[in-house]
Amino acid sequence: MRKKALWTLGLIAVGLLLSACAPNAGQDTLQPVGDVAEQQKALFVPVFWVAVAVFIIVEGGIVFIALRYRQRKGRERMPKQTHGNTRLEIGWTIAPAVVLAVVMVPTVSLLWELARPPEDGALNITVEGYQWWWGFAYPDDDMVTDWDRPITIADTMVVPTGRDIYLSLESMGGGAKDANEDPDFQVIHSFWVPQLFGKQDVVPGRTNHIQFSVDQAGTYTGQCAEFCGLQHGRMKLVVVALAPDDWQAWVDGQKTLAPAPTDELAKRGEQIFLNPLSDGRGACTACHGVGDVGGAAAPNLTHFADPTHTCFAGCNWPTDDREALAAWLRDPGAVKMGAKMPNYNLSDEEIEALVAYLYSLT
Ligand code: CUA
Repeated sequence: MRKKALWTLGLIAVGLLLSACAPNAGQDTLQPVGDVAEQQKALFVPVFWVAVAVFIIVEGGIVFIALRYRQRKGRERMPKQTHGNTRLEIGWTIAPAVVLAVVMVPTVSLLWELARPPEDGALNITVEGYQWWWGFAYPDDDMVTDWDRPITIADTMVVPTGRDIYLSLESMGGGAKDANEDPDFQVIHSFWVPQLFGKQDVVPGRTNHIQFSVDQAGTYTGQCAEFCGLQHGRMKLVVVALAPDDWQAWVDGQKTLAPAPTDELAKRGEQIFLNPLSDGRGACTACHGVGDVGGAAAPNLTHFADPTHTCFAGCNWPTDDREALAAWLRDPGAVKMGAKMPNYNLSDEEIEALVAYLYSLT
């Protein structure tokens, strides 16, 4: 009986251990790619081993004492009770205080260092937390589009390698604004890309910051790390880091409009997109912007089909998944519960044309 129980416990322990393994775990704090993430790991690892030592000493002591002094046959008496051993009391008050003081020194100094704004020449990006997707605006003077607005994208944040990046985090609610221009439904999000930087809360009414840099070109995944409503668990993002030349080409592309659609279906889709729909339904441009037309309450679609824009609608689906895009347009709430995009009851023909148009926005 006892042997069986031990085997079961052992198997559960091994199962738990193995379930922690993954071949391509993208969101791994222990595989940093960039200056800030490396410093954070360099702080985490020694603090972790200090915690392991404390765990072994305390838990080991508990297990040892429980086994050593457990009730046995022929030893029915209560053991001798001790109270108020002054030396022990002083010892286990001072020891944790010393451990915490030692851990505090590198922790606080790194916190201060990371809170300092970077030197001149950093790339500024405003990160906008919406329900439920991430928007990114590039406010620097050299990031203005041909139509005099900052480059604005959604779901994937594109950055250059080897340059300091300074994020300003803002909570934007569900996208709509009241008469005072205050966003609706404001909630706290938390912006987190484990391989690049630690979590930072995105708090309504204040602007928090993250600074970081990326060493290697590549894609890095992240997600919202603070409960923010129905779709919190699927409020994801991708960071695309480009080598300087590729970055400059991307910037130049973002500043200009995608070429006008040439095939008939995409042209028809453009008309559907730009104009209010029949039967009193609104226009896509009430919320979505493309170039100098449209609103800012929903993802900007100017370059929806750009190769860097690999996922859409909170990165729930790959951009090239035509079926998913059609399903999203058919009934947003059916595939993403609570989505703020209304169901416009589009016909199959309208959906097909809109999909063709969206894919023309390269
Ligand atoms: Cu946004 Cu959780």
